[in-house]
Amino acid sequence: MTRTVVLDGTLDAFRAHARALIGEGVPPEGIRWRDPLRSPRAEGAEPGLFGATDAPSPLPDRTAAVRSPALELPRAYVDALPTISCYRDESVWRALYVVAWRIARGDRGLMADPLDADVAVLQRMRKAIGRDAHKMHAFVRFRRIEDPGARGGERFIAWYRPSHLIVEREASFFRGRFPSMDWSILTPDRCAHWDGREVRFTEGAPRDAAPDHDELEELWCTYYASIFNPARVKISAMVAEMPRKFWDTLPETKQIPELLADVPRRLEEMARNSRAVADSAAPFVPFGAPLDELRETLPGCEGCELHRNGTRAVAGEGPQDASTVLLGEQPGDTEERAGRPFIGPAGEVLDAALEVAGIRREALYVTNAVKHFRHEPAPRGKRRLHKRPTIEHVTRCQPWLDAELAAVAPRALVCLGATAARAVFGPTFRMPDPGAAPEARTSRYADATLVTFHPAAILRAEDPARAAAMRAHLEQTLRATLADPAATTARPSPG
Ligand code: URA
Repeated sequence: MTRTVVLDGTLDAFRAHARALIGEGVPPEGIRWRDPLRSPRAEGAEPGLFGATDAPSPLPDRTAAVRSPALELPRAYVDALPTISCYRDESVWRALYVVAWRIARGDRGLMADPLDADVAVLQRMRKAIGRDAHKMHAFVRFRRIEDPGARGGERFIAWYRPSHLIVEREASFFRGRFPSMDWSILTPDRCAHWDGREVRFTEGAPRDAAPDHDELEELWCTYYASIFNPARVKISAMVAEMPRKFWDTLPETKQIPELLADVPRRLEEMARNSRAVADSAAPFVPFGAPLDELRETLPGCEGCELHRNGTRAVAGEGPQDASTVLLGEQPGDTEERAGRPFIGPAGEVLDAALEVAGIRREALYVTNAVKHFRHEPAPRGKRRLHKRPTIEHVTRCQPWLDAELAAVAPRALVCLGATAARAVFGPTFRMPDPGAAPEARTSRYADATLVTFHPAAILRAEDPARAAAMRAHLEQTLRATLADPAATTARPSPG
């Protein structure tokens, strides 16, 4: 007799059933694996809803499960499970069970045999997931929406339909790539939401509401309401978290019903204020490539609208084995004309500070958070006036920085100014006081990451005392990279 096992779509449920079934000695041909979330009928069905006949089979009692050393599956199988289980077809469970069964029956080296037909099925599934993940990395398109509850007052929303159930698995990729912006990726299966602290998952966006990009705001409004967190309304989180029974007695909480009633208006306002944004640089970046190749590829980047402003992208400069990286904001007028970072007036201030700190510039890798020059419109031939890049420009350009810093892998990173610091630590980062001592902290780019003042800010400072303090901070910070003698190369002392 064939047993039918109905799964709830989760790997945990498969694990529990497979363990019990193998323990009971039930062979693969004795089981029919059903998974309504992965069956063809799931197409168009409301996510998360099971029909009467689709109710998941009760989980076997773990304590009653037969304990057998054969059920300790080898690492090659266990490690592959989370990826392969993203495959969007219920046949995946049978494929996984067949291999687990054969391993448990004594074929411990099975996973190492790529010519085995059952292993080859799993490999094909694993590759399909890999391709799907790659596509998702390249093709998720975010749209900016004003969101007073999000960091920097903006949230980036994408709607995407992956071929496989990879949203939860891939959320960590997007968290790593876009740590500094609040984003949501909505898919028919699951929605992922990042707020700078954690990724939360909610139910999928129904397929019949699957929008083209123009309908995104409407869909988002629905989902915003479903994840709306009253603690983010501008009254204190403490009050918002207060049990309802106290609401009547605390005067501040009187605002809560009003604020909540205001949500639809805010959502409409968000939709009105939304606007399309250009793509990220991600599809243009040959991640994993050496610096030479990054430099060659950079001119083709169309990751944001700045590539259309008639300026060229300026690549970083310096040796790939540099132990220290200096990160600026964006190239200036002189840098854009010459195609080299920090060679204009700000570069002169930087060079002077390096000299005082006793550091040879040629030993460093020097680059910018944004590779194009954002400027005010200027008459032809006139010096173009710098315009600060927005956090959106920084975020869109970040894949270049990720790729450069992956290639250099520095021990020390010095952020010159707030834009550079926000590219690394997020948009809420606040600059230190000029009188503060340099402080090294860990970032995802370097163990010792320091923040100091931008040379151009020193030039602009109107108060001479403040300018002097900022300059001293810059020099001390550069010198601090020498605290670890391997972090950068000191100029040989004269004589
Ligand atoms: N300012 C920067 O941030 N970078 C440069 O390359 C030049 C000026």
